[in-house]
Amino acid sequence: MIITVTGSVGTGKTAISKKLAKKLKLVYVDVNGVIEKNKLRDRYIKKLDTYEVDISKLNAFLIKLINSSKKGLVIDSHLSHYLPEKNVDYCVVCKCDLSILKKRLNLRKYNKAKIRENLDSEIFDVCLVEALENKHEVIVIDTSSKSIGVCVDEITKKIK
Ligand SMILES: Nc1ncnc2c1ncn2[C@@H]1O[C@H](COP(=O)(O)OP(=O)(O)OP(=O)(O)O)[C@@H](O)[C@H]1O
Ligand SMILES: [Mg+2]
Repeated sequence: MIITVTGSVGTGKTAISKKLAKKLKLVYVDVNGVIEKNKLRDRYIKKLDTYEVDISKLNAFLIKLINSSKKGLVIDSHLSHYLPEKNVDYCVVCKCDLSILKKRLNLRKYNKAKIRENLDSEIFDVCLVEALENKHEVIVIDTSSKSIGVCVDEITKKIK
């Protein structure tokens, strides 16, 4: 079982992924850690205080990990929906109400441009649209009004 968890920044991917992995006895994969350890970061974007990532290198790395893993995986990343559909069973897309998301991002003390960019990504449903374009078996979960436990219960029910 390979599950990817995507969604705009701050929508709850990590909270959901860790709990989902525990519940389904799968291995949690922190893609940010993978990117850092394996030097998959590219150019630094000053305005957004973030790094570009080479998606084809990241995909190649994650596909190797999927193919070599004896256990199922929960892959936590806003880039995870770029994995080919054939390597993934389910793609969970986390969503969040905009006012709640704004509060979550403000708490992180991100700069204005970074908050704007991330809210825009949620407004335009970038991850969901791209996941559907990539033909993933998508499960959408809104994390704004339910506890993480309830969200994870809903996801598991949708997994056959
Ligand atoms: N269902 C929920 N109920 C209450 N709080 C939540 C819920 N889901 C997430 N949160 C909170 O929202 C914040 C952001 O969640 P989290 O770090 O999991 O998001 P993320 O999508 O992994 O962010 P990033 O893209 O930066 O990795 C955390 O403080 C988390 O506890
Ligand atoms: Mg996270």
